Amino acid sequence: MWQGKNVLLGVTGGIAVYKACDLTSKLTQLGANVRVVMTEGATEFVSPLTFQALSRNEVYVDTFDEKVPEIIAHVDLADWAEIAIIAPATANTIGKLAYGIADNMLTTILLATRADIYIAPAMNVHMYAHPAVQENMKKLADWNYYFIEPGSGYLACGYVGKGRLEEPLTIIKTIEHHQRRSTLFEGKKVLVTAGPTQEALDPVRFFTNHSSGKMGYALAEAAALAGAEVVLISGPVNLETPVGNIQRIDVTTAEEMYNAVWEHFETSDIVIKAAAVADYRPSVVHQEKMKKQQGALQIELERTKDILRSLGEKKTHQFLVGFAAETTNPIEYGRKKLREKNLDAIVINNVTEAGAGFGVDTNIVTYMNKAMEEHRLTLAPKTEIASRLVELIHQDYEGKTE
Ligand code: CTP
Repeated sequence: MWQGKNVLLGVTGGIAVYKACDLTSKLTQLGANVRVVMTEGATEFVSPLTFQALSRNEVYVDTFDEKVPEIIAHVDLADWAEIAIIAPATANTIGKLAYGIADNMLTTILLATRADIYIAPAMNVHMYAHPAVQENMKKLADWNYYFIEPGSGYLACGYVGKGRLEEPLTIIKTIEHHQRRSTLFEGKKVLVTAGPTQEALDPVRFFTNHSSGKMGYALAEAAALAGAEVVLISGPVNLETPVGNIQRIDVTTAEEMYNAVWEHFETSDIVIKAAAVADYRPSVVHQEKMKKQQGALQIELERTKDILRSLGEKKTHQFLVGFAAETTNPIEYGRKKLREKNLDAIVINNVTEAGAGFGVDTNIVTYMNKAMEEHRLTLAPKTEIASRLVELIHQDYEGKTE
């Protein structure tokens, strides 16, 4: 997303200016053309030379320091920018923007630009909570300025609370998310399950599978990007919750997943069951660690509840999407599952194909709807497969609800 993008970075006077250096560096590494505009206050904390070196571009501070006679710098920069980020944004600059004051290079450019403007505030916790600041931010948000909320934690002024500039990587991810958003699923609740389940045998051992949760997490992110309110029910995985309107509920066993899914099923519009749920669990869960014995060990397993089948039996308005992880005859088995579990669509995955299935960042899938129409999505990152799947699901969902 950042490759070749013209990014104007406004840096205002607060101790968090040092984090803006990191932000400049990261954006430049991502391929963005970064031009930094500093307020006088910001230059008290870090020299413009630092930003010049990191962005490999001239840094602007003074409105009247017109370097090239043929162009008016503030108008030129305002037109040039595709995305404007103010990080850190002080209460003072936020206040000026809310009242249309243009008394320095940065506020002048921001008044003149048509770029999307992202504001990442950083200030003392009480300043942030002050009604004047809150009201100014609300006013700007109503004018479509987008705020990247400060994090909570230790503040340089000694307080612990809200006001700390969000981490550069989170600022970048939040902007990416916002830029890629659509309204396909606005007002809809999407329930996604992801990851494996773990079924305990004793306090130290369990049965599980190779699911990493990556496909399910990518789907949760893609659904949130499409404007949905997402509930992500996740088995044990090593993944961060994606940015966006996502409520994550962690579960361990198939039984816990069953309960969590049913709790949210009634209010969901679309349900995507990407989780690799255990089909069996040990019939007896030993309270103490099992000691080894002579000879072979036989463990009796019992069936878990098939969550997807139970949803298919009871669904009313919900659009139900299942997954099929197969190693042989994927399309045939997938079609059978679609029919037998009463699904609206199924995503079929041959986990033995190179670049598909568990653990890897890419996938190859076939999406099949109720009319048995097939869409093969060739090798691509799971994030891309996820956004394609969300589009396909949206198409069929609209068809169903029309
Ligand atoms: N699934 C489920 N509950 C289970 C087992 C599976 O909800 N106890 C769901 C998965 O989330 C997935 C779909 O069923 O969406 C298919 O899972 P898969 O293991 O491929 O198929 P099964 O129906 O379990 O059939 P089989 O193992 O025989 O292939």
